[in-house]
Amino acid sequence: MVKVLYINNSTTKTFKIEKNKTILDLAKQEDIGIEGSCEGSMACSTCHVVIHKDWATKLPAPCVDEKEMLSLLSNYYKNSRLGCQIVITELLDGLEFSVPEDI
Ligand code: FES
Repeated sequence: MVKVLYINNSTTKTFKIEKNKTILDLAKQEDIGIEGSCEGSMACSTCHVVIHKDWATKLPAPCVDEKEMLSLLSNYYKNSRLGCQIVITELLDGLEFSVPEDI
């Protein structure tokens, strides 16, 4: 299990998630307000999350399709990512993220 921190305004919630699951999986499991309507096929961007700056560079870079979807967002942040594309590995133990509406 890998520890992931969800920052909601000034509140931090810590969750444990199986490795190789995504942030979208975690959101569905823990009822975090991320819709994920296309179930991870990079066709919606309703899984938009913002990765804490200390962790953003530790993630694999977004692929072309993810970058394209992110570029369509009106509330894009420098560290915006699609939660369905963030696969949690042991290297990401302690990863922090937020939902844009909570920043
Ligand atoms: S769930 Fe649709 S892009 Fe991530």
